[in-house]
Amino acid sequence: MQLKNKFNHSILLSRKKYRYPLLRNGLDKFDLKKGIQVIQSGHITMNKHTEIFEKKFAKKLKTKYAVMVNSGSSANLLATFASCNPLRKNRFKKGDHAIIQSLCWSTSLWPLVQAGLKVKFVDVNPLSLNVNVEDIISKVNLKTKVIMIINVLGLSCDILRLKNFCRKKKIILIEDNCESLGAKYNEKYLGTYGDFGTFSFFYSHPITSGEGGMIVCNDKEDYNILKSLRSHGWSRNKKTSKKYPNLDPRYIFVNSGFNVRPLDIQAAIALNQFKKLDKFKKIRIENRKKIIDSLKKDSKWKNQFHFIEVPLKMKPSYMVFPIILNPKFKNKKKQFINEIEKRGLQTRPIISGSFVNQPATSLYKLNPKKIRFKGAEKIEKLGFVIGLHTTKISNIEINFIKDCLFLIDKI
Ligand SMILES: Cc1ncc(COP(=O)(O)O)c(C=O)c1O
Repeated sequence: MQLKNKFNHSILLSRKKYRYPLLRNGLDKFDLKKGIQVIQSGHITMNKHTEIFEKKFAKKLKTKYAVMVNSGSSANLLATFASCNPLRKNRFKKGDHAIIQSLCWSTSLWPLVQAGLKVKFVDVNPLSLNVNVEDIISKVNLKTKVIMIINVLGLSCDILRLKNFCRKKKIILIEDNCESLGAKYNEKYLGTYGDFGTFSFFYSHPITSGEGGMIVCNDKEDYNILKSLRSHGWSRNKKTSKKYPNLDPRYIFVNSGFNVRPLDIQAAIALNQFKKLDKFKKIRIENRKKIIDSLKKDSKWKNQFHFIEVPLKMKPSYMVFPIILNPKFKNKKKQFINEIEKRGLQTRPIISGSFVNQPATSLYKLNPKKIRFKGAEKIEKLGFVIGLHTTKISNIEINFIKDCLFLIDKI
């Protein structure tokens, strides 16, 4: 009882500042209880909950294998390093080329650079937030060995066309699906089109365990590589110990490695959240629709905002609600965001804007010709996100959001 009160109190304190935060009550008392039970069992490191969660995750997404890690960033790291592993038949080498969109997250990009790939950026479509597949294809050359595609905020490009293209050209497709667990394209889950698909369970993502991530794949060799990369390059397989009878079977290192294992606490919480994914997805879609309908029905509506349309074959799964300002307000965005934040509507940029404008890309000279990506820059200059909660939105909340958003006319 004591513990429960403390948790609720700390959650309230951290959310107090915002009347409409990015996520409200992301973890309920049942999720937290699952984590507490693991702590009380004394076995908090990776254990049976991780294994159960991986199996259930793979089954629901109709993929053969799933490997849990401590974050979505670690999932991207392992997917990239598995793609150049000596045990993989089709692998990239240092100096090969990779393509990534300019609207990306930092740790979608850096594993490619860290693994020695030469990165080329491609612009995104500001109306869909995602890439046009033809733009990627036009950048492919004989050295292109990897495409890192990010399914942005619950939607994707024509991923089926991209997958078929990559298969034909033997290009490794890594789908960074960290923002889009539960979304489907052509009735197939996003994240299962690529050679690897990655997921994040960070706070305010489609499901959360605080921190956490997953990688899915369909190839057994990839699965074994991912498992040993996750844990120091270790193998605890009985077959391996027979193969190396002179080594201590407890410590046989068959590959290079990291340590990016999750805690079993994270797996227990994520597993409980995962059971609610479809419910969360439905509520978020309904909440988004209610906010849009209410804005558009209001007498103050004058196309001040653009909302991302859902492509035909898509069934989205949202974590937040992206909003693009009408270009006539381009000089007002900063003041507008300051004002609505002050009133209690929490916002974030849409991913990190055009990543080539970030100082870290200059540090590593990733865009020496200073190419501008107009689509991503438009999203950076005009776009922002607000929360989409996993409980039904109230009229009070809708009116508050509307009051805040219509302030754009007064600035
Ligand atoms: C597209 C994308 N990839 C990767 C990540 C990294 O996930 P994590 O925060 O779990 O490391 C994020 C995080 O928000 C993301 O949006």
